[in-house]
Amino acid sequence: MSLVDINAKIPNNVDLAEDRRLQRALESWQPKFIRWWEDLGPAAFKTNPVFLRTAIDVGQQGWANFGHVSMPEYRWGVFLAEPEKDRKIAFGEHKGEDVWQEVPGEYRSMLRRLIVVQGDTEPASVEQQRQLSLTAPSLYDMRNLFQVNVEEGRHLWAMVYLLHRYFGKDGRDEADAMLERHSGDADNPRILGAFNEETPDWLSFFFFTYFTDRDGKYQLASMRESAFDPLSRTCDFMLKEEAYHMFVGASGIGRVVARTIELMQRHDTEDVHPHGGINLNLLQKYLNFHYSVSLDLFGAETSTNAANYYAGGLKGRFHEERRDDDHRLNTLLRYVPDFVDGAIGQREVTQLAALNETLRDDYIIDCQKGLDRWNRALSEAGTSFELTLPHVGFNRDVGTFAGRRISPQGHVLTETEWQASCSDWLPTDDDKAHVKSLMVGVTEPGKMAGWIAPPTSGINQKPVEYEYVQV
Ligand SMILES: [Fe+2]
Ligand SMILES: [Fe+2]
Repeated sequence: MSLVDINAKIPNNVDLAEDRRLQRALESWQPKFIRWWEDLGPAAFKTNPVFLRTAIDVGQQGWANFGHVSMPEYRWGVFLAEPEKDRKIAFGEHKGEDVWQEVPGEYRSMLRRLIVVQGDTEPASVEQQRQLSLTAPSLYDMRNLFQVNVEEGRHLWAMVYLLHRYFGKDGRDEADAMLERHSGDADNPRILGAFNEETPDWLSFFFFTYFTDRDGKYQLASMRESAFDPLSRTCDFMLKEEAYHMFVGASGIGRVVARTIELMQRHDTEDVHPHGGINLNLLQKYLNFHYSVSLDLFGAETSTNAANYYAGGLKGRFHEERRDDDHRLNTLLRYVPDFVDGAIGQREVTQLAALNETLRDDYIIDCQKGLDRWNRALSEAGTSFELTLPHVGFNRDVGTFAGRRISPQGHVLTETEWQASCSDWLPTDDDKAHVKSLMVGVTEPGKMAGWIAPPTSGINQKPVEYEYVQV
């Protein structure tokens, strides 16, 4: 069992004190991280005491500690899950061999790329969300935003540790570049499209944490399968924190739905905008947008890179070991969506070629679960409205559907047909202006903005009225 050094300058369970060179290198990256946090982390309430969960261990019980912390004093640490004894590679050409504790030369650049692409998303979302603390609908919500932000910061630390520890000078350069690219920067943007979009309001934040953090879950879960054991153990622990981010999204949207139902009933109308609420069809448009940009994050339907990652043992499938097949996939087939004579059809490819699509399929099934819960609340309230996931081809920029016009129902449209209807499907300027008009910060303990219902319970057994952020 690795020991946790919680009082070190960089809390860790990776024996940093034993490797002076590495420790010095990370300690020289630390002030750059803090400077980045101060410049591009939360824009307001940045030094107020916040009731935060801090990772202090990785064990089954009590890996986190709750208490009021001012964010610049948050203890961002490096934590890997406990190693699994005699772990073997579960897939690809090296299936059955021992996992690697060091990076094999032949996979060095591929592994570095995987880690860099994942690492880049972590600070990106903090940058995207930096203005939101000004308009938090309650102190409970502000606290949740900050919790997500500090943990994305820790996830950056997790990836930077791997780069410093295993990739020498290139790794250190990549770690510096993580703080130099910025979300939405015209000259030096973040690597993936969805991480250059703005998160301008809290409705977007809840859909982002529901859909885009969930992409993160699927990427991390497939890297947890990696033959490179330190990456596997890193991702395993990150997934524990990630679960909370998706809870923030799922419960946030659920609370908006609850408040909308309440306003609809009280005023006997479907149009709750005059009453300071958010209409169900507007929720559907935000859902359509965030879902479709998150689908793009999985990449094209077929991918040589993904096939090489899999064959090499670097990145597996979701729950690789629970699957009952040969775990090589070069002869097994599956269908992927394709355009045939201007219509949506499919083509058969090897499962090895179609790994992105397989991961996207798993993600879509998971996304539907939240909709089922929100729809249950709607139907219990006697509304016939149902939130639905749009067709996989709707509003896509990557893969076979890029540049096509597909309706949420999956019909192929002409440009004119698309233009005539897209304002029914995606948020318009008016929709965004309405949402923006509702965004007023509420900083009295226990009070909520009028567009969202209170949560059913507080954090770590504290009441909803608790002073989660001391303002
Ligand atoms: Fe993350
Ligand atoms: Fe996250």
